[in-house]
Amino acid sequence: MQYIALASETDFNGWRQAARDLMLRAVQPADVAWSVRGRAPELFETSAAPPVAAAQGGFNVPAKFIELARTAILHRDPQRFALLYRLLWRLRSHPDLMHIATDHDVARVQAMARAVHRDQHKMEAFVRFREIGREPHNRFVAWFEPEHHIVEATAPFFMRRFADMAWSILTPDVCAHWDGHAISITPGVDRATAPSQDRLEETWRTYYASIFNPARLKVKAMQSEMPQKYWRNLPEARLIKALITEAGRRSGEMIATAATEPRKPQRREEPVMTEHSAKTTGETLDTLRAEAADCRACHLWKDATQTVFGEGPRRAPLMLVGEQPGDKEDLAGKPFVGPAGQMLDRALQDAGIDRDKVYVTNAVKHFKFVPRGKIRLHQKPTTAEINACRPWYERERAAIQPALVVALGATAAQSVFGRITPINKTRGRLIELDQHTQALVTVHPSYLLRLPDPDAKAREYDRFVDDLKIAAALLRRLARAA
Ligand code: URA
Repeated sequence: MQYIALASETDFNGWRQAARDLMLRAVQPADVAWSVRGRAPELFETSAAPPVAAAQGGFNVPAKFIELARTAILHRDPQRFALLYRLLWRLRSHPDLMHIATDHDVARVQAMARAVHRDQHKMEAFVRFREIGREPHNRFVAWFEPEHHIVEATAPFFMRRFADMAWSILTPDVCAHWDGHAISITPGVDRATAPSQDRLEETWRTYYASIFNPARLKVKAMQSEMPQKYWRNLPEARLIKALITEAGRRSGEMIATAATEPRKPQRREEPVMTEHSAKTTGETLDTLRAEAADCRACHLWKDATQTVFGEGPRRAPLMLVGEQPGDKEDLAGKPFVGPAGQMLDRALQDAGIDRDKVYVTNAVKHFKFVPRGKIRLHQKPTTAEINACRPWYERERAAIQPALVVALGATAAQSVFGRITPINKTRGRLIELDQHTQALVTVHPSYLLRLPDPDAKAREYDRFVDDLKIAAALLRRLARAA
């Protein structure tokens, strides 16, 4: 018997390597026992055979199998490693096996992969963060009990969605943490470790009750979309029974009440914007600003106070792009005037850059938030919202023709490059956008504000200033050459 102990429940690479070696040494599936290190019964572990020696050679495996195995291995069934190895073994003599949906092993693995995907969707929908601590030392923590080993695989979804929040998702299996920079995984914890209340929870319930539409209530769909086992982690769950009971009466009242007039657009509908038109018409910032004031390209205008357009000299050699206006900027109508703006000002000064000579703007021009009582809680813009706003950035850039565009954070980088651009891979180097303009990616100043550890904050601030110094050096070179 061959005993294989994988490094973790989700050790796909370990399984793949071991399976490959076993196959090359023609070890029958019935002669292999799979386990996860530290999880096997004592007897099993002590009788473990020496590690499998690396065998030479190779064989082809359908890409479809690898894709499926990568997902199915996240299933909680302890038999999954053996099942996948048996399927791999059989594939060698039946290369078309993956197309036979009625095959017992194929059907089982496919069902496992589907269950894993379902669990991932549930996690994406039902994780609720609770805030602990006060700004700037706050962190958002959620408790979740996944059915399968999906935490590591699903964490990138939350990273994209809540890139500018420091968060932790605690589960009994493993915990995922995001610090604005990287995801880290630590061992699982007890439910008692997770906070169950936060100062915003009551307000969140009020908000949920206010957006609950009794006329659209479909109890069956709601129950299947939101199974009861997730309710205990949802702050809004305790409202649901009462809202359902009340729904009939409230719908009746809604029907009896006269309809309200829709809010009228202020001037015109969606502006027609193309990059080409900006380049060829030589439009000015003033015209662009006036046009953007009525932008309806996405829904964010509805709740925001106003469009916050870019500001700075018409021919600035440097253009800074942030994410979106925050609470203060939304009220003032100017970019980077709140806490992140103060951090930016200090860093610009330390890098030797005069903010008055810089054009400062945002990838998204309206403040996106959820109301939680008196607080307007910042929300990260989606790709659709970034894309809807991107023509404004393009037209600003075409009007200014800067030598350098600095993208502050992931949203700005996505807008500047027109695609999702990981900061870590691009940070701190000059990248050509076209023959006149280069780009530089760095972090967003609010990332520095959120770092709880003073040493880490000081270190990251220095890195941020170093990035801005690259911009300063380029501007000096250009000024000398002019
Ligand atoms: N954060 C941004 O990205 N932009 C602002 O204008 C303010 C905060």
